[in-house]
Amino acid sequence: MGKALIIGAGGVAGVVAFKCCQNSEVFDEICIASRTLSKCDALKARLGGGPVGVATARVDADKTDELVALIKRFRPAIVINVALPYQDLSIMDACLAAGVDYVDTANYEPPDTAKFEYSWQWAYRERFEAAGLTALLGCGFDPGVTGVFSAHAQKHHFDEIRSIDILDANAGDHGYPFATNFNPEINIREVTAKGSYFEDGRFVETEPLSVRRSYNFPQIGEKDIYLLHHEEMESLAINIKGVRRIRFWMTFSQNYLNHLKVLENVGMTSIRPIVYEGREIVPLQFLKAVLPDPASLGPRTKGKTNIGCIFQGAKGGRPKSYYVYNVCDHEECYREAGSQAISYTTGVPAMIGAAMVMTGKWKRAGARNVEEFDPDPFMEALGAFGLPWQESFSPDTLD
Ligand SMILES: NC(=O)c1ccc[n+]([C@@H]2O[C@H](COP(=O)([O-])OP(=O)(O)OC[C@H]3O[C@@H](n4cnc5c(N)ncnc54)[C@H](OP(=O)(O)O)[C@@H]3O)[C@@H](O)[C@H]2O)c1
Repeated sequence: MGKALIIGAGGVAGVVAFKCCQNSEVFDEICIASRTLSKCDALKARLGGGPVGVATARVDADKTDELVALIKRFRPAIVINVALPYQDLSIMDACLAAGVDYVDTANYEPPDTAKFEYSWQWAYRERFEAAGLTALLGCGFDPGVTGVFSAHAQKHHFDEIRSIDILDANAGDHGYPFATNFNPEINIREVTAKGSYFEDGRFVETEPLSVRRSYNFPQIGEKDIYLLHHEEMESLAINIKGVRRIRFWMTFSQNYLNHLKVLENVGMTSIRPIVYEGREIVPLQFLKAVLPDPASLGPRTKGKTNIGCIFQGAKGGRPKSYYVYNVCDHEECYREAGSQAISYTTGVPAMIGAAMVMTGKWKRAGARNVEEFDPDPFMEALGAFGLPWQESFSPDTLD
């Protein structure tokens, strides 16, 4: 039993807090902290009662000294970072300074360059090792559960995994002409970046959204999917021994892509600051301010998500294909936790990752990715905390 400090008070943080409160065997108290105390208090008010104590605090996570002071005051066993990727390094610095474990769901990105890769956080590996602390990197759904699924496939189903296709489908409808399901700034930076895939030992870059396929998803149906760059390919290429190809695919509706193209064409997705009425603004940050808040989509979103991995390789000298995935219903998530499925599928694994470290099941010093750990206790916890998985041994595969 121990305490967890949750940094962030957005859609994902709401689910992490809710799920920690369901897991009183591991968490005896949580503290929700962000720059806006009223947001943290609003999340606390939704939790109400129960055996897990809930505190709130104001903190600017860009400032390591503020974080260190809060950690020393609250004395958590772990910090769960569900603020924005920009805060990853300052929060890791604070964890090292105060001697606590760390978990996040998205890799570091510098605010002024849309470039997401693990190099900055992997550079902390030795310092976490020397301090005897665990930093669990990328423990949402993708990255996160997709890495656990890969470790599970490697451990239980294959002698050799030749290819991994990660498929992320969201067939949810929120009724708005255009909105993003998680932080719009981070989401649009990800989607408008160049795509890439891993093949034969190197990453091949593609133009944004230029590679398209179609896939018939269980419980969702036929959807167009587009090849994107995604951070877990980087760690899986290292940790899944012998893998020759890794691709990441995401569904987008034509309506979403049309809106995005127009916004891009008029310069609204740019992260280069411009001067407007004497003040410097970043167009993408302004766009974020006028788009619906992802946390407000919960009550209006209908439909399901399906996220999973198709593995191809060999077992016992024979070719084998294996598909493992989770289907999540937006309305059921809202009824249970007051959020849509994107926040839910991120927040549940973040809580489970923290619990794995706190209970010692995944306690291993260093800055590490999820597939470096034993997948079995995590796979078991997924079902117990609302993300049951399904599998197919004869899936349709992608060319
Ligand atoms: N791995 C996955 O599957 C996956 C999927 C979706 C999202 N994610 C990640 O999950 C994270 C949270 O997403 P979200 O949808 O919950 O975003 P969100 O709704 O925009 O919430 C972000 C929160 O971060 C807080 N924050 C921002 N800057 C801060 C600072 N300097 N100090 C303290 N708090 C700060 C904000 O609160 P204040 O403004 O009050 O500070 C806000 O509550 C993001 O990093 C996103 O990339 C991962």
